Amino acid sequence: MHEPRYAEPVLTWYAEHARDLPWRRPDASPWAVLVSEIMLQQTPVVRVLPAYEAWLTRWPTPADLAKEPPGEAVRAWGRLGYPRRALNLHASARAITERHDGVVPADYDELRALPGVGAYTAAAVASFAYRRRHAVLDTNVRRVLARVVTGVEYPPKTQTTAEVRVAESLLPEDPPVAARWSVAIMELGALVCTARSPRCADCPLVAECEWRLAGKPPYDGPPRRG
Ligand code: ADE
Repeated sequence: MHEPRYAEPVLTWYAEHARDLPWRRPDASPWAVLVSEIMLQQTPVVRVLPAYEAWLTRWPTPADLAKEPPGEAVRAWGRLGYPRRALNLHASARAITERHDGVVPADYDELRALPGVGAYTAAAVASFAYRRRHAVLDTNVRRVLARVVTGVEYPPKTQTTAEVRVAESLLPEDPPVAARWSVAIMELGALVCTARSPRCADCPLVAECEWRLAGKPPYDGPPRRG
């Protein structure tokens, strides 16, 4: 099933408001998309940008990184935080070189088998780099769907199968459109439907949002970050 009443306004909004980020450009390689997603897991966009550019200038392909000792990856990681990610990316570069002829796999399960690649990252790379049709659920997407579809301010602390079902039901049929929808709903969460002070007046889903229609009831569970 696919619910088109959300897709059209969100895709129109995205076309007008999306940030121009290098990993979203059509010339971004699958390796660039993988690097960006690993960096963006725990680090804000503004801090990722220079590290991403430097990393890909130095190691434009997985084979370039695979030749280096792992310590070089950690050194280049600099102050992005959670340096285990650098080691995982290095180990992934070696696995891609050895098992996949140097090409980042397009298949979800093969991506998932790479070190440090979880469900989110595998879906993001399959979708954004290869236009495979996968629901992409990060913190921002989960929050938007909790509000718009479920009518609650925040999603559950850990991801549920119900959330995956909702996300899959909303995914447009056409894979490239599905990929654009996923990045658009993510961007809506990052720029408009933010955790603490959502800008509902600027939201393309203001007329549909169950949370807003219910009068934006506050979250009444245990303290959480959103
Ligand atoms: N575009 C694609 N993936 C992204 C992410 N994880 N964060 C911000 N922008 C993105």
